[in-house]
Amino acid sequence: MNKHHNLPSIFVAMDFDSIDDAKNLALKIDPNKCGIKIGKELFTSSGPELVKWFHDQGFKTFLDLKYHDIPNTVSKACKSAARLGVSIVNVHALGGEEMMLSAKKGLDEIQSDTLLIAVTILTSHDEKSLQSIGLEKGLDESVKSLAQQAAKCRLDGIVCSALDLKNIKDLMPKNFIYVTPGVRPHKTNDDQKRVMTPIEAFKAGSTILVIGRPITEANDPNQIINQIYSDFPAD
Ligand code: C5P
Repeated sequence: MNKHHNLPSIFVAMDFDSIDDAKNLALKIDPNKCGIKIGKELFTSSGPELVKWFHDQGFKTFLDLKYHDIPNTVSKACKSAARLGVSIVNVHALGGEEMMLSAKKGLDEIQSDTLLIAVTILTSHDEKSLQSIGLEKGLDESVKSLAQQAAKCRLDGIVCSALDLKNIKDLMPKNFIYVTPGVRPHKTNDDQKRVMTPIEAFKAGSTILVIGRPITEANDPNQIINQIYSDFPAD
């Protein structure tokens, strides 16, 4: 469990397009050891009913829909997510301060304890693609300034690569949370290029590790999760 927010330190990315696959995996893992991240693919195919089913099994959930729209719409979407009972919901920091403030206000209005976090710059961008959409500041500076804007709008944290933490952590509030994908217990040849091992990410300051395929494609997902935890320092 995470010390600050009473959430598991690992969230499993359920990147499936079928309810059956998602349920099968959930039945193999322990809700006391990991939460579930639901992204656009699974949510679009399976919707809120599946999220409720995960909750009924005892899982905490992170609804990773990365809202980016006008402030009023994003605020209402965050409220709907909170009413669904998810523990974490996210928005794009590129939606701007007014949008992030509105999202936060929406959650405050319903006294929600759902954590609101921001995506800064998608890790699929490089310097060239950022230039082409007019973000002249460059990658590191953009990530830094968007993370600072998220904190200014009282968001609870950001999604980022654990490799970026050394550049930004000192500038952020003390209890800010860092949700980090791109974690690989062992070397792989998949599409994640900038990776860290779980213990490296944890030492770099990650609060929650998002791990997909190394767990979802394992013969024994529980064993992988236990192995990851066994590397963590006891506290
Ligand atoms: O299978 P894998 O461990 O690569 O899954 C990582 C998850 O985190 C996927 O759901 C992916 O979409 C998500 N993610 C990411 N990088 C980001 C943001 C989200 O890999 N910057």
